[in-house]
Amino acid sequence: MTSIISVANLSKTYGSGFKALDRINLEIRRGEIFALLGPNGAGKTTLISIICGIANPSEGSVTVDGHDINRDYRAARAMIGLVPQELHTDAFESVWATVSFSRGLFGKPKNPAHIEKVLKDLSLWDKKDSKIVTLSGGMKRRVMIAKALSHEPQILFLDEPTAGVDVELRKGMWEVVRALQASGVTIILTTHYIEEAEEMADRIGVINKGEIILVEEKAGLMQKLGKKHLKLHLQSRVDAIPASLADYRLELSGDGRSMTYEYDTRGERTGITSLLGDLRAAGIRISDLDTSQSSLEDIFVSLVRAS
Ligand SMILES: Nc1ncnc2c1ncn2[C@@H]1O[C@H](COP(=O)(O)OP(=O)(O)O)[C@@H](O)[C@H]1O
Ligand SMILES: [Mg+2]
Repeated sequence: MTSIISVANLSKTYGSGFKALDRINLEIRRGEIFALLGPNGAGKTTLISIICGIANPSEGSVTVDGHDINRDYRAARAMIGLVPQELHTDAFESVWATVSFSRGLFGKPKNPAHIEKVLKDLSLWDKKDSKIVTLSGGMKRRVMIAKALSHEPQILFLDEPTAGVDVELRKGMWEVVRALQASGVTIILTTHYIEEAEEMADRIGVINKGEIILVEEKAGLMQKLGKKHLKLHLQSRVDAIPASLADYRLELSGDGRSMTYEYDTRGERTGITSLLGDLRAAGIRISDLDTSQSSLEDIFVSLVRAS
């Protein structure tokens, strides 16, 4: 495995005394799409900001393709394109001008052929002379990506690229990201949508309260996320789960008036049909039932508990 980014023992305590990151260790592989998945406030933007040199770490180090982000800031930063969470654009500039200007900020010589390629790759070429203010939301987002790619970075950070974006636009964004990966760019995106991580990522890192809880290949993690709960409301209370039902690992709740069964939506069978039969055989009557998907919050709780 070759890492393109190495984060070692990184912590961040804000001036307020709040510890936003707690000893983060993370390796990003060259050429992968890595999704940093976590709820709001988990520390995703803070981590990205430090890697991109916008915020200072309190402890620890980051290298980008071997360049230390402190000692060798310019070389490290030149490798990176960043599409921030908050979109700022110069509304009355043309697409061409704003993207070219971004390249200039990195002290790179003009390269119209590269700008043209970026705009074509992002399906913005026919809008190159349009003022940004006239573009649709999806196009504006693509302009932000074009700006981030203007200086030919090998790594692209996308901070919540589809937050608040409708389903169509989200799919369009995913296609753009895949095409970028195919062109050799390493991509790190943050998201609080499980589906987005599932759709896009080669590997997923889960972050919660400033700690990386796990980093896994997508397939392994999605299995953990595929759990659903079936809650059975009972007609009368029971003191304990009958031994005949032990295999189902039911959990008693509601003072014995309900039980919960966990099953895997991705499994070949859920076991619900046989459970209902065995409940009847045990003389347990059900007044109602409902199912719920594990929420991200639940998953974090169970992962934190397990770790
Ligand atoms: N400049 C700051 N000063 C103090 N606290 C901050 C600052 N920026 C972010 N935080 C806090 O750090 C935590 C992580 O924030 P952030 O990295 O933006 O999370 P995420 O991007 O995962 O939503 C949050 O609790 C946030 O309130
Ligand atoms: Mg954020």
